[in-house]
Amino acid sequence: MADEPSWVPPGVDTKRANVARVYDYWLGGSHNFLADQDVGRAIAAVEPNMRAIARANRAFLGRAVRFLAAAGVQQFLDIGSGIPTEGNVHEVAQRADPRARVAYVDIDPVAIAHSQAILAGNENAEIAEADLRDPDKILTHPAAERLIDFGQPAGLLLVVVLHFIADTDDPWRLVATLRDALAPGSYLALGHATYEGKPAVARATEKVYNRSVSTELHLRSRAEILRFFDGFELVDPGLVYAPMWRPDVPADVPSDPSQFGCLVGVARKP
Ligand SMILES: C[S@@+](CC[C@H](N)C(=O)[O-])C[C@H]1O[C@@H](n2cnc3c(N)ncnc32)[C@H](O)[C@@H]1O
Repeated sequence: MADEPSWVPPGVDTKRANVARVYDYWLGGSHNFLADQDVGRAIAAVEPNMRAIARANRAFLGRAVRFLAAAGVQQFLDIGSGIPTEGNVHEVAQRADPRARVAYVDIDPVAIAHSQAILAGNENAEIAEADLRDPDKILTHPAAERLIDFGQPAGLLLVVVLHFIADTDDPWRLVATLRDALAPGSYLALGHATYEGKPAVARATEKVYNRSVSTELHLRSRAEILRFFDGFELVDPGLVYAPMWRPDVPADVPSDPSQFGCLVGVARKP
């Protein structure tokens, strides 16, 4: 369309809100449209903490990657990587170790196009267009095969993506398939939205989301989220609300972290 920016890939319906672009809006990015902003604002009306929640999740991703880099992980498989924004995984990882390799995976054409643009010329990072619901395709994708040596420890990042997978697609089986492909000493870093901290607000958010965005949101309980770590050993402090996971300074932890409706954790495959 004539009034759309040149970076919009062909076939993208900018009139329909989309999960990657709504998240980009909350994070203060510029790759979103009126439909995404309207939904972002409607959800922020139900959950006024939404932008802070998105920022806290993104900050957790950065701390988790730094933690994994310090543990010696040099290769990362980031699934549901999103539209690139501040603190991208390859930037954080390659700052810690310039040899670090990152295979990004997303299903969204805008995330793919923008990632390709910013990764041009970076030999050690690439984006694959693939669906988390088909983990075998991810594991055999040329980008993953080129960048990830599955005989060596890797960091599997599933940060705020599994709540877009329905129970009927058995997200626990999908994670187990990915886990089985990882070498011992690998890590899983995961973040997942829950309804447990404030159930009424969470359910209202889910409702607004699911009537406006093409990909459904599936909030889960703490016990259901914990099951994603089967076959891994959680590192301290375990499965906690995002601001509580190894904060840079104690003052970063709010008085009621359960207001940050995402549980996060990092775990090691023995
Ligand atoms: C909320 S964003 C999270 C982005 C990033 N992981 C972060 O923490 O900042 C979720 C991303 O998951 C992607 N996604 C949703 N369903 C997916 C699927 N089935 N396979 C791959 N990616 C998916 C969306 O396109 C979106 O970019």
